[in-house]
Amino acid sequence: MPISPEEYINPETFERIKTFAEDKDTPFLVIDTATVERRLEQLINVFPYASIYYAVKANPAIEILTMMRDKNVNFDIASIYELDRVLSLGISPDRISFGNTIKKSKDVRYFYEKGVRMYATDSEADIRNIARAAPGSRIYVRILTEGTLTADWPLSRKFGCQLDMAMDLIILAKDLGLIPYGISFHVGSQQREIGAWDAAIGKVKGIFDRLEQEDDINLQMINLGGGFPANYLSKANDLETYGQEITRFLTESFGDDLPQIILEPGRSLIADAGVMVTEVVLIARKSRTALHRWVYLDVGKFSGLIETMDESIKYPIFTGKKGEVEEVVLAGPTCDSADILYENYKYKLPLNLAISDRVYWLSTGAYTSSYSAVEFNGFPPLAVYFI
Ligand SMILES: Cc1ncc(COP(=O)(O)O)c(C=O)c1O
Repeated sequence: MPISPEEYINPETFERIKTFAEDKDTPFLVIDTATVERRLEQLINVFPYASIYYAVKANPAIEILTMMRDKNVNFDIASIYELDRVLSLGISPDRISFGNTIKKSKDVRYFYEKGVRMYATDSEADIRNIARAAPGSRIYVRILTEGTLTADWPLSRKFGCQLDMAMDLIILAKDLGLIPYGISFHVGSQQREIGAWDAAIGKVKGIFDRLEQEDDINLQMINLGGGFPANYLSKANDLETYGQEITRFLTESFGDDLPQIILEPGRSLIADAGVMVTEVVLIARKSRTALHRWVYLDVGKFSGLIETMDESIKYPIFTGKKGEVEEVVLAGPTCDSADILYENYKYKLPLNLAISDRVYWLSTGAYTSSYSAVEFNGFPPLAVYFI
């Protein structure tokens, strides 16, 4: 069955985007900033006790950052380049956390010189770097968590450390004159199993208690990461349910007197606000008897749809054509055979879909435009408009 767009986007907003898009050449992404504002308000309502650090990597557009700035949101930053952009908007460094555990010493120094005093870490070498380049700063240690199998875009293994190591690092941080501030984790992006937070919060509680009892260190903060849901084809619970459940996990472990709670949302704030407007370049069958048509679009893995890798994120796709549907293989326009979007999971698109028809990719506001290649096969980066 073709999707019903109203399950993913407000019908009025979609009409507005389609009208706006009519006289423009595809492909491009349109972001509705009112949707981002709504999602932010929803998150604040659901987690009234938490400080929000927007994960800039999800969509670093000036228009989004300015909106976040004006809503008093804080910023989770991954590089000196994101830092420069955020600071150029007049955002003060006490609203910034350097959330990347993989960083050059000179970059830590740069952050420190710009006034940033909060750093994530998960290794001894990195902590020693921070102690040298950003003396006296607050650090939080990222732990490994479960959740790989239930997150659509897992962040396993590469980041975080085991609990014993996390405690060693906290003690080392204190010895090196840093402020051991808290523990962070990320249960995986688009995490559809809310229980992943339960397991992680339980681990954090164990660390808080042991460090207090055995080392007289009182940690003050838990960073619950991102992982909150956007609206894609694979269903997730709504944000309210995440809020209720995670709040319950927190109070079960920590009682009513919670430590400072930080959230680092990216996808859940931005994804649903974006519609990628694209066009069919070619439709082909590979043999006289082939059961599936190949539909080649003017966007692909290299123009923003990298999260189709391993068919991880399944975006809702809408064509506007009606009638009988057929399973298709979807691919991008470049001369690279990795540029196939969905081959195992078969989208069903109308049989009467034709070359040059428009295809709308819903929920594409996050992790798309910033992933788009600069000139692969000569194609320019994905254009973005804000309405
Ligand atoms: C450290 C950190 N925080 C937050 C996020 C945002 O996660 P999400 O987009 O799932 O909200 C990411 C995503 O990669 C991350 O690496």
